[in-house]
Amino acid sequence: MRHHVDFATPDDLPALADLLAELFSLESDFVPDRAKQLAGLRLILDHPELGRLFVLRVDGAVAGMANALITMSTVEGGRVVILEDVIVSAGLRGGGLGRRLVEHVLAWARDQGMTRVTLLADRNNPAALAFYARLGFQPSAMRVLRRRP
Ligand SMILES: CC(C)(COP(=O)(O)OP(=O)(O)OC[C@H]1O[C@@H](n2cnc3c(N)ncnc32)[C@H](O)[C@@H]1OP(=O)(O)O)[C@@H](O)C(=O)NCCC(=O)NCCS
Repeated sequence: MRHHVDFATPDDLPALADLLAELFSLESDFVPDRAKQLAGLRLILDHPELGRLFVLRVDGAVAGMANALITMSTVEGGRVVILEDVIVSAGLRGGGLGRRLVEHVLAWARDQGMTRVTLLADRNNPAALAFYARLGFQPSAMRVLRRRP
């Protein structure tokens, strides 16, 4: 099994939308909507200043993804990352690929001079919480609040 992580291309978008459909079915906050997911993915691809889409490829096929959105922090005094949409294909989990994928994104962020990576994980997803803890992510005292503008 050969695997590597690189940046997404337009040809990857249908496979990435499939992965997001699975992810948003798992997360209680969200409902999948393929047209919106494709539009969001396309927006990132067309505007790299907004973020980067990373694809995990196994034997040439899309087997996972991560979305590194770029924002800035006055606390940090520079650009920081919001890590979203992390998923590995169901049949390939538990073999170290998720770690490789996220460590690739962390290395990229470091190379870009970014000093913080923040993510949201569903409190009802103990597998993801355990995964991120193994990768060194610390809990935050902040609560997430949302509304429509
Ligand atoms: C979360 C996810 C990306 C992890 O990918 P993965 O390839 O299964 O994870 P890895 O095999 O690379 O595991 C990395 C580390 O996390 C730990 N880990 C992974 N899944 C775990 C689980 N279910 N329970 C406990 N620990 C777990 C591993 O033991 C490993 O530890 P180590 O490297 O220190 O030995 C994958 O399970 C997934 O796609 N889940 C569904 C989507 C999802 O929930 N995404 C997160 C959204 S916030």
